[in-house]
Amino acid sequence: MRVLITGGAGFIGSHIAQHFQGKAEVVVLDNFRSGHRRNLDGLKVDLIEGSILDRAALDRAMRGVDLVFHLAAMISVPESMLKPRECVEINATGTLHVLEAAADAKARKVVLASSAAIYGDNPTVPKVETMAPEPKSPYAVTKLDGEYYLEMFRRERGLGTASLRFFNVFGPRQDPKSPYAAAVPIFIEKALRGDPIAIFGDGGATRDFIYVKDIVGALVYAATTESVHGTHNVGYGRKMTVLELAREILRLTGSSSAIEHKPERLGDVRHSMASSDKLQAAGWKPAHSVAEGLEATVGYFKGLK
Ligand SMILES: NC(=O)c1ccc[n+]([C@@H]2O[C@H](COP(=O)([O-])OP(=O)(O)OC[C@H]3O[C@@H](n4cnc5c(N)ncnc54)[C@H](O)[C@@H]3O)[C@@H](O)[C@H]2O)c1
Repeated sequence: MRVLITGGAGFIGSHIAQHFQGKAEVVVLDNFRSGHRRNLDGLKVDLIEGSILDRAALDRAMRGVDLVFHLAAMISVPESMLKPRECVEINATGTLHVLEAAADAKARKVVLASSAAIYGDNPTVPKVETMAPEPKSPYAVTKLDGEYYLEMFRRERGLGTASLRFFNVFGPRQDPKSPYAAAVPIFIEKALRGDPIAIFGDGGATRDFIYVKDIVGALVYAATTESVHGTHNVGYGRKMTVLELAREILRLTGSSSAIEHKPERLGDVRHSMASSDKLQAAGWKPAHSVAEGLEATVGYFKGLK
């Protein structure tokens, strides 16, 4: 079997590459917009440096491929607000390129990394796939576009497709240095340095944090299970407050960093939690937990020091 991972030099993509070591030939197409070559250190992959917007590079990457994991994207909501046209180009047009190339190369299935951002700031939890999408950013709009394009290619071109809406993914190799970094790697890095951890608001906002290994499990399940198509949420269906997260990280790192409260950020959603019942009913089960994932992630960042 041969698999292509667009955005494979990124945080989640590199874990997919790791999963397939010894199980399949792995091709990675990445232009290092936000990913890093070092994420693939020690992994056997056919690395093609290029963009999903370059059809020639995409065709080369797609040769002989059975499964496509499409993760290449502008990944940040705030960045998409600042650069909406670039976001549309990479996330919507880029996804169309990937689908055309996959259909032309007769790939079996394309799985898209979609996002819980599609639910916008609708306060209802848990989020279920039947809720009306309320995308509030170019990032969310383009992820939703992608889902529709995947479904269109399934109907019109007979290409297998499925979209997974990830909730808050964390794990080793998530980049704490990017200007749009997520809470888990930032908190761990601050805790290990003894620097104060900043929380926006009272820390009572909740998120459905999910360990990257379970996201990989869900992606692989969706890619290899013919009956899975359309859109599915992926989260643990559990909520953790940001304050609980910070305290757990302080405990795991043995850090005495202070927790500082900063003014709430405009546009932050108060509560976000998935119902993954649809994917679970289709046969997927998470194999890990937040506690296990946080321990592994802290261990990884300690090892970098
Ligand atoms: N991390 C999360 O919590 C989360 C949540 C929901 C959805 N997602 C989605 O999962 C996917 C992976 O996210 P991540 O957290 O691993 O981020 P990441 O930034 O580590 O990975 C994205 C990768 O795509 C690459 N890329 C960007 N534009 C490209 C282009 N034009 N051509 C080729 N490669 C390109 C980047 O260099 C990077 O390696 C993204 O599609 C993201 O929107 C992530």
